[in-house]
Amino acid sequence: ANLVVHATGGNVTTSTMYGLMHEDINNSGDGGIYAELIYNRAFQGSDMFPTSLDGWSSVNGAALSIKNSSTPLSWALPSSMNIAVGSGKGQKIGFRNGGYWGIDVRVQKYTGSFYVKGSHTGSFTASLQSNLTGEVFGSVDVKSKSVEKGWTQHEFVMVPTKDAPNVNNTFAITFDPAGVQGGSLDFNLISLFPPTYKNRPNGLRPDIMEDLAELNPTFLRLPGGNMLEGNTQTNWWKWNETIGPLKDRPGMANVWNYQITYGLGLVEYMEWCEDLNIEPIVAVWDGLSLDGHFTSEADFQPIIQFALDEIEFLTGDVSTKWGAVRASIGHPTPWKVKYVEIGNEDWLAGAPAGYDSFKAYRLPLLIKAFTEKYPDIKLISSSSVFDNITIPAPAAGDFHAYLTPDGNVASFSQFDHLTKDNLTLIGEYATVHPNGGTAWEGNLMPYPWWGGSVSEAIFLLGAERNGDRVIGATYAPGLRNLNRWQWSVTLMQHSADPKQTTRSTSWYMLRLFGSKIITHTRPVTSDVSFGPLYYVAGNSAEGHGIFKAAVYNSTADIPVSLQFEGFAKGATAQLTVQTGPEDPYGYNDPFLQNNVVKESTITLTAGDKGTFEFSLPPLSVAVLETDGK
Ligand code: AHR
Repeated sequence: ANLVVHATGGNVTTSTMYGLMHEDINNSGDGGIYAELIYNRAFQGSDMFPTSLDGWSSVNGAALSIKNSSTPLSWALPSSMNIAVGSGKGQKIGFRNGGYWGIDVRVQKYTGSFYVKGSHTGSFTASLQSNLTGEVFGSVDVKSKSVEKGWTQHEFVMVPTKDAPNVNNTFAITFDPAGVQGGSLDFNLISLFPPTYKNRPNGLRPDIMEDLAELNPTFLRLPGGNMLEGNTQTNWWKWNETIGPLKDRPGMANVWNYQITYGLGLVEYMEWCEDLNIEPIVAVWDGLSLDGHFTSEADFQPIIQFALDEIEFLTGDVSTKWGAVRASIGHPTPWKVKYVEIGNEDWLAGAPAGYDSFKAYRLPLLIKAFTEKYPDIKLISSSSVFDNITIPAPAAGDFHAYLTPDGNVASFSQFDHLTKDNLTLIGEYATVHPNGGTAWEGNLMPYPWWGGSVSEAIFLLGAERNGDRVIGATYAPGLRNLNRWQWSVTLMQHSADPKQTTRSTSWYMLRLFGSKIITHTRPVTSDVSFGPLYYVAGNSAEGHGIFKAAVYNSTADIPVSLQFEGFAKGATAQLTVQTGPEDPYGYNDPFLQNNVVKESTITLTAGDKGTFEFSLPPLSVAVLETDGK
């Protein structure tokens, strides 16, 4: 292919091309990026997932039971764990917890807290030990403050003296039964954190955050996905129940088949954005639940108010009602929110009636209310022009694409059809099926695979070529705990063992594309049409020439002659090329900890007219950046 990148023309692009999306699916929040180590820490339950002692077991014969006390720790945490001391004498009794399928124990600072109620003198011993050998890696004595009436919080810090050889470890709290008056003690909100990303209290896992940071993302779409919608009209992600002290967060029966704690709440999402210096795209609930029910127009005003309050909580100054609440929980400075998304996939659940209600009043009323109160916020409808809707101005749309590799490639030109009046976020995309497979049951691929990742690159090139009309794009879902998951194909996988934190083939492709930012696309003329080579070209903020490309469906290398208009002979550029394994279905396996993506960078020197000559192999992804302008 002979390509000429013109020095003029083209468009200023979005500043948020590559982003992240998160919801708690696959235990990606609890047991995932949220660093809490204790599973079922506060005995939270719901109609769907009844309160239980799941995750807890007895030490030295203590009798454990769930208690719904008339004086609970809080309205949000009505159940606690009662420990009856029985007749045990002479040895400490208590309870243990195995974490989210293991606990990573290292010589580092663990920060813990638990609440107790009941008359007790003496101390509690908090410890981390091997589940296999009983070896104790760390322990600390915490002086008891526990009294008969009322709950007392006990906080501690523990630094193990030794790294555990594996994650088959437990956390335990034990005490001398002789110190207990009244036969039993009640415990609740038993929490243990390892060091977190940027040392945030109640923070996030450093290894996963570091991998996300390395993608150079520009936004985080939160908090879902289906999770935002909830299962029913009463059970959905209520932002106001996810803020403040942990004891005031009731959690939720998550749509992904497990109870969540709300430990990763709205504030933690904003801190995540702050720590990665990225834009939040905050999705507000718009009255649709996954069971297909939706709020009637007569009852819709409170839904609007609830959404407006959420944004006031995030952005209002301390003189506002919700801004004052934010300040009272330690965040006096308002956050900036540039994007608010209305709902999630309103074209899906409950359609056609649900979608009709979205078009008829839910979307227009929310747009009207937000435009009046927050005229500077860019609103995004949960469906896009590709979903049979005319989105009322000034809102943009959100398009979701879970496709086959061929489907991604066929979508390359899809975004050429967008106009300035229908800006679109690609709020979720991933290659989930192999070519020929489309059913949602049975054949979701186990992991992103190289051929799929190359096809995603082509889909993204199509988006980036239209970077003046595409707000940005994010892979979804982002994370998957290898021990319990509902959706196999995710950008990364993880478990309690940091060695299994896996960067998929798509992660590598996205790191490459995210590493070079085109701020202005430029027209490219070519002597051949798109396919098997697909590309976009433009300038960086510094005026460097950038060319991104991918090759699909080719059996031979593709020679490329790339001329940047205005560049002279002798100009230099860096070309990074990624290729995969021989098998296009090859993937990065968390259990092998392999990486099938090969990446190499070479320096090229331009010939006549500033033309760079190189060739790209089949199933490859490449980025070239000139050294000068
Ligand atoms: O990303 C997984 C799910 O796919 C999201 O929750 C939902 O929005 C989409 O259907």
